[in-house]
Amino acid sequence: MTASIIDGKSFAEGLRGRIAGHVERLKSEHGITPGLAVVIVGHDPGSQVYVAQKAKQTVAVGMHSEKYELAETVSEAEVLALIEKLNADPAIHGILVQLPVPDHIDPQKIIQTIDPAKDVDCFTPASVGKLAIGLPGPVSCTPLGCLMLLRDQLGDLSGLHAVVVGRSNLVGKPIAQLLLRENCTVTIAHSRTRDLPSIVRQADIVVAAVGRPEMVKGDWIKPGATVIDVGINRIDAPERGEGKTRLLGDVAFAEAAEIAGAITPVPGGVGPMTIACLLANTVTTASLINGLVPPSDLTA
Ligand code: GUN
Repeated sequence: MTASIIDGKSFAEGLRGRIAGHVERLKSEHGITPGLAVVIVGHDPGSQVYVAQKAKQTVAVGMHSEKYELAETVSEAEVLALIEKLNADPAIHGILVQLPVPDHIDPQKIIQTIDPAKDVDCFTPASVGKLAIGLPGPVSCTPLGCLMLLRDQLGDLSGLHAVVVGRSNLVGKPIAQLLLRENCTVTIAHSRTRDLPSIVRQADIVVAAVGRPEMVKGDWIKPGATVIDVGINRIDAPERGEGKTRLLGDVAFAEAAEIAGAITPVPGGVGPMTIACLLANTVTTASLINGLVPPSDLTA
């Protein structure tokens, strides 16, 4: 293997340490305890684990945490009423509704009811617009995590060619916006892109966010490129025992690590950054709601 491994777990730990410092300062100098409310509807086991982690890490950095677990059968109106209540609650600076929600609930209605000032996912149209034109506010968690890892690895990203594979609202589009703000030349590739391997071969930075296990092959990577793998694909692993699974990224890691300059592993790369960036966003929104300048080391 030639690539250096980008250790997202250790970077996220350091970031949480910095967040705890900012939380302490907000409390002692301004009497503000940042508060995050997480809402989960139904009993998807993956979401349950994820939400429990969010609550635990929120408390660990000294913030106020509220968790709302609603039944699968809850009406859309009841969820909207809870969001309105949290919008009006001065102890809450961030609201996150875990997606996906059950089919009888319209996720866009949920998202658009969240006060943009408390939109720590950066999902509302107002937040997405601010991100696009570079106004202060929360930045989508996973893209922010990717950007922090890239800056740490490469320093100035100016002039580098970044190829983002995937055009989702959750990752592809916002990471492309952020990289453009960093003065990268940005190509957004997707499932209809012709000759994807030759496009990816041009990249100094590859961000793979398609949700297809090991789709990006080693011989697609330009020697020395930096590879950020956002994919978290759970696949059956009968070799580990009956019913066992394992996680695979969107990049064929072993092949790519022979050619890349640096690469994120799965797990332990981008994954741990997402929750840390959610906490960072809560410090950002708590600061902005109170008329303070958000800490510059926690945002894009
Ligand atoms: N489900 C999977 N990832 C996310 C996320 O980043 N935010 C929310 N709200 N739901 C998710």
